[in-house]
Amino acid sequence: MSDLLAHGMLAGLAQIAQTGRDAGRGGYSRHVWQPADFELRAWFIERAERLGLMVETDRNGNIWAWWGAPGPNAVVTGSHLDSVPGGGAYDGPLGVVSALEAIARLQERGVTPTRPCAIVVFAEEEGSRFGIACLGSRLMAGTLDADRARALSDRDGVSLADAAARAGVNPAHLGTDREALGRIGLFIELHVEQGRGLIDQGHPVALASSILAHGRWRLTVTGQGNHAGATLMTDRRDPMIATARALLLVRDAATKRPGTRATVGRLNVVPGGTNVIPSRVDAWLDARAETDEETRVLVEEITAGVEAAVAENGCTVSVIEESWTGAVHFDPILRDRFSAALDNIPALATGAGHDAGVLAASVPSAMLFVRNPTGISHSPEEFAEAEDCVAGVEALEKLLRTLL
Ligand code: GLV
Ligand code: MN
Ligand code: MN
Repeated sequence: MSDLLAHGMLAGLAQIAQTGRDAGRGGYSRHVWQPADFELRAWFIERAERLGLMVETDRNGNIWAWWGAPGPNAVVTGSHLDSVPGGGAYDGPLGVVSALEAIARLQERGVTPTRPCAIVVFAEEEGSRFGIACLGSRLMAGTLDADRARALSDRDGVSLADAAARAGVNPAHLGTDREALGRIGLFIELHVEQGRGLIDQGHPVALASSILAHGRWRLTVTGQGNHAGATLMTDRRDPMIATARALLLVRDAATKRPGTRATVGRLNVVPGGTNVIPSRVDAWLDARAETDEETRVLVEEITAGVEAAVAENGCTVSVIEESWTGAVHFDPILRDRFSAALDNIPALATGAGHDAGVLAASVPSAMLFVRNPTGISHSPEEFAEAEDCVAGVEALEKLLRTLL
């Protein structure tokens, strides 16, 4: 980060480097409509206004900063500012900072846009607070039902409707935003690469080709809560043990299907006492594969295996789909056009979800990835060298200049 500050080019990342730091987990925990998110939003608005952009927040809590008058067929770039719990500094903010920087550079060069242009900051991209990733873009695009969104609640039991209201977003107005969506002529999201793709290819920047199909499922394993000392080992119906068995099955199911991925990164143990056999364990499954069909088959296989494993331990399980995103293939014509404009940079498939993936179903969309030398993301070790970030901004600036 000091590297970036010294560089000056992406000072924006350095300006927000202390916001939402999570001393317990390491890295950043920046969740929608919580103090760090409010601070980041205020920071973005201030930066955008300093560039003379006109800022508005839409009905779903996404922020738009317009260069010139808002209007149809707009060239839109941007990303998100929220993070996973204990996330890195780049996932999301790099795209926002790069968008600000690219527009600042175009302004310095005297460019006047010939069509509307905006930066967008999408709300709750990671789904870390309310469980559904790309919440702001899904609501806008109408792929998430507003009633369902309003009823979501966070880990403290605060409903999304209440959190939105407290943030000044009228929950009654959440939902499909044809006006906001209809203004986007084309969307470009710049993002830090989240795997090893660009290390292996030896390039600082690439375009995205596709995103794996992915979804989230909540497995609720129910047993019998009981006393840790008074209950014989043979008398137990312990959902923790049943879940432990289930987790190994999750790994095995994905391991034997090359290219598929399955993860359980979050557990909720009820009631959660050291001397208490739990009565229930909630486990969240994230499963991904190249095609929708393959992902569905993987989850069916996991479900069947888990049902059998928990039954062997005297427990039951319910499996509820919390979100689903089909595989995304970015417009190849747009990608080839952009690649040609950028000295034939490569295209890269990704396993990470993005707002650009949600928008791709409705509007021409593209992504730029910036090399991550650690190959690690959703972790404090996520990184990008300053020179690569600069290469990303230059690529974005070039595309915007061509389009504007
Ligand atoms: C978001 O980064 C996701 O892929 O879950
Ligand atoms: Mn992410
Ligand atoms: Mn992201």
